Amino acid sequence: MNNFICPVCGQALEDNGKTLFCINKHSFDKAKSGYINLLLSSSQGNHGDSAEMIKARRNFLEADYYLPLAKLLSTVVAHHTPQNCVIVDAGCGEGYYTEKITNHLVEQGKTPEVFGVDVSKHAADFAAKKHKNINFAVASVADMPFADDFADAVISVFAPFAADEFLRILKPEGVVIRAFPLERHLFSLKKLLYENPYENEVDDIPPECFEKLEMREHKSEITVVGKEMISALFSMTPYFHRTSLEDKEKLTEIENLKTEICFGIDIYKRKVAENELKKR
Ligand SMILES: C[S@@+](CC[C@H](N)C(=O)[O-])C[C@H]1O[C@@H](n2cnc3c(N)ncnc32)[C@H](O)[C@@H]1O
Ligand SMILES: [Zn+2]
Repeated sequence: MNNFICPVCGQALEDNGKTLFCINKHSFDKAKSGYINLLLSSSQGNHGDSAEMIKARRNFLEADYYLPLAKLLSTVVAHHTPQNCVIVDAGCGEGYYTEKITNHLVEQGKTPEVFGVDVSKHAADFAAKKHKNINFAVASVADMPFADDFADAVISVFAPFAADEFLRILKPEGVVIRAFPLERHLFSLKKLLYENPYENEVDDIPPECFEKLEMREHKSEITVVGKEMISALFSMTPYFHRTSLEDKEKLTEIENLKTEICFGIDIYKRKVAENELKKR
């Protein structure tokens, strides 16, 4: 199935196996791996995570250190979606959570149609190679190639939150499910690096258009084994680029890293506007 819309004119895109094209003859070739690049040429360039960052994240995630988050997310998505559901993972990276969620929905007897969007073509390429039952596109979360009222759930895992665009593509009864690091996430890693480590700031979304339905949390401890894995985990963190070479060196001295993992998951629904309420 293909439910992407043309990023130029907004018309439906047809799929002839190799190319997606719209009624106005705008066309987009599929990559060999199967993803479709729907970023307009004016926005092409070096976007999102680099190939190295993606490789490091992929290695770390595939070791399943964050499996508890994938499981909790899967349960939450299954709970909040109908039998035949359309799911969009906005900022999906290489599709680790996208796949886990999809598999869980199928195991639950649902028939999901799942889409992953990421601005990095390295991420989309890897995701498309690995997860053949999911539709991947290169696009920005702020301008997604989907029609209005398209999705039952938009998922945002450690990725930019584009409230207005999520609202636009969401069905009236749809939900947004956002995963984010809590204050003490990876605090022991920070203690190793910095003299005065600080806790993560947790931003207080939702914006006006959403109402929080519930919040879930996962807190536990993991032991990351081996220098390579520790370095892969560190390179996934937002403070990787802000850490001095001298501090980075400290991590090369340890073989195992015991650290807390603390995730929050917020579930939002659309706020019903006054004028919509009157119509009901
Ligand atoms: C921290 S990673 C999380 C990836 C994935 N959700 C995961 O948890 O494995 C953030 C992702 O957002 C992507 N990204 C950053 N800005 C974006 C944007 N404006 N539109 C789409 N994706 C974006 C990056 O390329 C990267 O893959
Ligand atoms: Zn078009």
